[in-house]
Amino acid sequence: MIIAIDGPAASGKGTLGRKLATHYRFHHLDTGLLYRGVAARLLADGAPLDDREAAHRAACDLDIADLDATRLRTAELGEGASIIAAYPAVRLALLELQRDFARRAPGAVLDGRDIGSVVCPHADCKLFVTASAEERARRRAREFAAMGAGPSYEAVLADIQRRDARDGTRSNAPLVMASDAVLLDTTKLDIEAALQAAIDIVDGSANLAQG
Ligand code: DC
Repeated sequence: MIIAIDGPAASGKGTLGRKLATHYRFHHLDTGLLYRGVAARLLADGAPLDDREAAHRAACDLDIADLDATRLRTAELGEGASIIAAYPAVRLALLELQRDFARRAPGAVLDGRDIGSVVCPHADCKLFVTASAEERARRRAREFAAMGAGPSYEAVLADIQRRDARDGTRSNAPLVMASDAVLLDTTKLDIEAALQAAIDIVDGSANLAQG
């Protein structure tokens, strides 16, 4: 069973993906970490983010087991990830890795931007999780503050709007809602309510699949 979750930056899809995976005892992959891992490699090697060959090599060498979410979830790496994610060779290098993960038994939850549209077009259930840019910025600014880092709300909002524009307009696998995805707008939902709504959607699609 594959659950595909897509949505814009800071929509809550990562938290929902993790909690859904715990609920169904499935594996979970936050695919944003793959792109963040590639950007982190370039920065560590002193390579510029527009070095497409270095980005491709970093993507080919990436090992899921090495991805440290705490280290990778910085604003700088989010921006870098969004830049290298536009390179077709990087996306291609990461495709099979994601598809292999999706085949893990008894099931897998993958969240990202193109899971329902490109990585797992035949996923059993597709969710498109979103929230207003202002609400997403408020949540992300709170997370950064809790980590002791402190970009202002305005800086976080500008970053989110820039990434929305780049992720949504790139020619290769842009952020789109798959035609068979179910929209979940979490602007007015806390995480418990969002999780319950997501479980209802997944259970509903599993019932449909059975008969
Ligand atoms: O979800 P996130 O903020 O960690 O993702 C960081 C960047 O990676 C995002 O701005 C775009 C890119 N990304 C992507 O292009 N495709 C994915 N499946 C996941 C992330």
